[in-house]
Amino acid sequence: MTLLFVSRMDEPEVWRNEFAGRLPDLDFRLWPDVGAAEEIRYALVWRPPRGLFQGLPRLKAIFSLGAGVDGLVGMADDLPPGVPLVRMVEHGLNEGMAEYVVWQVLDWHRDGAVYRAQQTARRWVKHPALLARERRVGVLGLGVLGGCVAQALAALRFPVAGWSRTPKQLDGIDCHHGPDGLLSVAARSDILVNLLPLTPQTEAVIDAGLLAALPAGAVLINAARGRHVVAEDLLAALDGGHLSGASLDVFDPEPLPADHPFWTHPKITVTPHVAAVTLARTAVPVIVEQIGRIERGEPPLHAVDPARGY
Ligand code: NAP
Ligand code: GLV
Repeated sequence: MTLLFVSRMDEPEVWRNEFAGRLPDLDFRLWPDVGAAEEIRYALVWRPPRGLFQGLPRLKAIFSLGAGVDGLVGMADDLPPGVPLVRMVEHGLNEGMAEYVVWQVLDWHRDGAVYRAQQTARRWVKHPALLARERRVGVLGLGVLGGCVAQALAALRFPVAGWSRTPKQLDGIDCHHGPDGLLSVAARSDILVNLLPLTPQTEAVIDAGLLAALPAGAVLINAARGRHVVAEDLLAALDGGHLSGASLDVFDPEPLPADHPFWTHPKITVTPHVAAVTLARTAVPVIVEQIGRIERGEPPLHAVDPARGY
């Protein structure tokens, strides 16, 4: 059985070794050394080049290295009909994302930036603090990652509301859905976390109107995709004083250009798309399990619906 690994971001030898330990018979090929293309049954990809799949006539599945498949869905003309596109769902991503969002929420909640600035200036000033139960958090997207994040925050006693496309029930979370639900969640979110997939329906969802609907002094945490946020509207809301801060892990484009105002904005925390990273040691067991399902004639889990976009 042959798998083609296509990524310019990941360390292929780490993935090769992880597969070798779990599927010793797997022929692991590293793009662009495709070899005999008709032998390739599986592709494991992050941002593949256009036209790649047309040259792979006997593919059984395309596995995305990322949870977000906006890049792949966006090259729909390239996707071979009838070949499932499978997104990444694995516990390392869930844990990484929960850690990142909890880190950022707690940093804003406990005035991290204020105290770091005070330390630099050797100033000893105490500020009143709220308890978590007094700080409302909203989570846009209540899927695999949004659901984990919402529950991690609720476990710290933050009152959490969430927003999804279809109705949801999650223990301890105030769940809203559909176009009407968005403003209800925004209006009660002192901290708003974005974990939506990027689709035509969610692109630019965080615009001036949504930011204005947040309570005064709110904070935005975007860990999904840069194109969810209208950058000029975010800067205006921060500079106008309605928002007190933003943590941004994702940008359009990436890497964030050196002259972009986000880098130096005093109210913005920038991280370079590291909120949740797909690790070979946690993802390979999941891919091996998915290959096993397909080889047994079962459908893979977490196949993407290209029409829905995620
Ligand atoms: P998921 O399981 O597919 O969940 C998506 C959620 O968004 C679902 O609750 C879905 O609603 C909701 N949604 C989709 N379209 C909507 C709409 N038009 N209106 C309202 N809600 C909508 O995705 P996931 O695994 O949680 O991943 C979410 C995103 O995180 C990825 O797409 C990716 O962009 C991003 N991500 C970022 C990093 C990073 O390091 N920064 C790492 C991994 C992933 P339903 O439940 O009704 O379907
Ligand atoms: C990373 O952004 C992912 O989608 O997994």
